[in-house]
Amino acid sequence: MTHKTSNAVDPFAHLHDENYDAPYVHPRCKARDMVTMAGRQTVSLNGDWRFTLDLFDEGLRQKWFAQPPMPVNQWRVPRDYDESDAQTLSVPSVWSLAKPEWTYFEGGGWYSRSIHHEEHDQRVFLRIGAANYEARIFLNGHFLASHQGGSTPFFVELTPHLQAGDNRLQINVDNRRRPERVPMHHFDWFNDGGIYRDIELVLLPRTFIKDFSLSLVPDGTLSTLHCTVTLSDHDNGTAVLVIPELSLTQDITIAGGQGKVEFSVPLRLWSPEDPHLYECRISFGSDTVTDRIGFREIRREGTTLLLNGKPLYLRGVCVHEDDVRLGKVSTIEDVTRRYQDAKRLGCNALRLAHYPHHEHAAKLADEMGLMLWEEVPVYWAIQFDNEATYQDAHNQLEEMMTRDRNRASVIIWGVGNENADTDARYSFMRRLADHAKSFDPTRLVGAACLINREQFRIEDRLADHLDIIGLNEYFGWYEEGFEGLRQLLANSKPDRPVLISEVGADALAGHHGPDSELFTEERQAWVFENQIEAIRNIDWICGFFPWLLYDFRSPRRQTSIQNGINRKGLIAEDKRTQKLAFEVIAGFYRQIGNEA
Ligand code: GCU
Repeated sequence: MTHKTSNAVDPFAHLHDENYDAPYVHPRCKARDMVTMAGRQTVSLNGDWRFTLDLFDEGLRQKWFAQPPMPVNQWRVPRDYDESDAQTLSVPSVWSLAKPEWTYFEGGGWYSRSIHHEEHDQRVFLRIGAANYEARIFLNGHFLASHQGGSTPFFVELTPHLQAGDNRLQINVDNRRRPERVPMHHFDWFNDGGIYRDIELVLLPRTFIKDFSLSLVPDGTLSTLHCTVTLSDHDNGTAVLVIPELSLTQDITIAGGQGKVEFSVPLRLWSPEDPHLYECRISFGSDTVTDRIGFREIRREGTTLLLNGKPLYLRGVCVHEDDVRLGKVSTIEDVTRRYQDAKRLGCNALRLAHYPHHEHAAKLADEMGLMLWEEVPVYWAIQFDNEATYQDAHNQLEEMMTRDRNRASVIIWGVGNENADTDARYSFMRRLADHAKSFDPTRLVGAACLINREQFRIEDRLADHLDIIGLNEYFGWYEEGFEGLRQLLANSKPDRPVLISEVGADALAGHHGPDSELFTEERQAWVFENQIEAIRNIDWICGFFPWLLYDFRSPRRQTSIQNGINRKGLIAEDKRTQKLAFEVIAGFYRQIGNEA
């Protein structure tokens, strides 16, 4: 196997240059570089890759990517990297579960493999479903692009750098927690590193459909469809939208690579009770994309949520993307089990905390009839006065919305969680919320907001930029008793819907005792009994999202009873052992489900 790579460099020439990563930032992959994957064929690169840990970014300092592979007996100077004797790591996977000694590893890692290329006239893109946190792509010794953000997909075009035969593809990923990142260096979940979602090649024609949207216009008619098409370049022509079940064929004029059309058509609307999806196909030239799309309208009137014009109460539950065996890898089976458990609880909605989950989460929710709150990890104390941090958050938000824009199940874009109210935070999050609304007027924009502690009422100046106010509150757990909750509810007069976006208590499964004793199942059940009693008749509360469905890994939790696990799950981390509180909530949801 031979690789023609750039000339070998002196690996030690820049050893003391602390600006070593500057050449590997731009170009940076962004939402605008994404390609719709609807119905596309791909060449999977999942499987075993060669892998080398790199705690000190030695690879960027010494330019490991520029050293042509060669047997150690031919080296003229010593090397610190030799992919021929590297470890093997499967993709998708997380570093923390690959080896016991890597559990808490936070640093860099180098993936390497060969990809074979035959000359053809198609364009070749690399798609990575997610790599936490920053990724840098090298092909045949050349840096191509970087990506920031640990939970959204990104695309790099390989075409100009591919050579006939074998090509050396290397990917550097680092999962360091940093104050300027999103999330920053303090959060309550496990910091899994690596390429933990699918990695694949996408072959496309010279001109292809880069993005499209197809949705119901929220104008109350429940029959106005709006379609936009964006091409990979500035071509003119006609795209064709076909929805066979509606006997619909609709031309879309494309000018300068863009086109849109709006038309009225009678529809079978998507809802949790009837999650109807239409086979849709859009073609332009030699490119065709296909998708199964549901059409529904979500909007608010005053403090009431309306789904397809009918009042809606969100019987929810929160869930992390976390598994003691898979880490942050989310398989179809894992998501299916999550939704089955949520339906068993009586849910019609889930909050996918605190970052964009795998794309099959929204696809499966479309099929199974569950509504979703999806969010970006603008979590706790972000560097709100740092413009580069804002651009990172803005891009993650736009990548999430671009990826899931045609998923009927997604009804809320969440732009933040529990961020202390400062002017910098207000400016940062108002920009995010306004961007979400202008990018996608067909969905609601929300955030887990704060309360005014002095006046003891729900009050957050960010609320004016939101359609729905999330309220995380832990009366009965972090705050003793429920009098405070009753006061808060009595003092608050919101002018838009509020949903309880987090509420709960820890319980060690199988640990029983009086409800006065923390961490017993009885205590957790008691908290929910009292919470439900307090909120159930508040007419401006439109939803209830217990924190959360399963116990999950969090290094912040280091007592013997928690042992690195946040135990607020209604089900233990084995995803089988149910706690007493599960039935308390199921009973509540049965009652309000019947009242609806
Ligand atoms: C916060 C936070 C969650 C966290 C939870 C807890 O509200 O939003 O991410 O896990 O509290 O303390 O368990």
